[in-house]
Amino acid sequence: MYILAPSILGADFSRLNQQIKAVADAGARYLHLDVMDGTFVPTLSIGMPVISAIRKCSDQFFDVHMMVMEPWRFIGELKEAGADLICVHQEACNHLDRTLHQIQNAGLKAGVALNPATPVSMLDCVLDQVDMILIMSVNPGYGSQKFIPYTLNKIRQLRRVLDERNLKVDIEVDGGVTLSNMREFLDAGANVLVSGSAVFKGDASANAHKFMEIMREYEAKEG
Ligand code: DX5
Ligand code: ZN
Repeated sequence: MYILAPSILGADFSRLNQQIKAVADAGARYLHLDVMDGTFVPTLSIGMPVISAIRKCSDQFFDVHMMVMEPWRFIGELKEAGADLICVHQEACNHLDRTLHQIQNAGLKAGVALNPATPVSMLDCVLDQVDMILIMSVNPGYGSQKFIPYTLNKIRQLRRVLDERNLKVDIEVDGGVTLSNMREFLDAGANVLVSGSAVFKGDASANAHKFMEIMREYEAKEG
């Protein structure tokens, strides 16, 4: 299944409700919510109050990307705020195995993210414990960056390993994904595309429709 996950970091926060509605109506099943702590990444973004506020106006799947050190501290609050999936960074967890179980025991889906320079092999031991793996295609912390080409190889490599082990795990890619390069990520084996600026800059509805059109094309190819 191919999924568009618009990142609200790229949205106009003064009309967030309207922008979220536009992408949901266009067929984006996920909403990607970037939480930053100013330590794991150099800046701050949104947290629980914003997530719980938008939970009231959206029934999309909330894909919460935790760019936060030791994210296990926030699992309960995130669930309360309306998260459906919590994605933690491998680099930010001293006890990744425990953290993944804590997320799943809370009744949520668990994802793990890898920074561009972290090899796929770091997840070898937990591949069968995760619902989604996020390959960062930029260094996390900011929207509107250009994607780092070598991350495409990581997606290919990960898809190969998952197929070999017969594991149905989603591969999400985040950072610099646009209408003109999205096919490269899909061809490499990603099936969940995060996009902030390329969806929300300009006409969010029209942009999201264009993303969805290409994703439906891939879905049709797979039959
Ligand atoms: C960056 C965030 C992304 C960001 C992507 O660290 O994790 O989700 O919003 O923005 P674009 O699509 O503009 O690169
Ligand atoms: Zn993100």
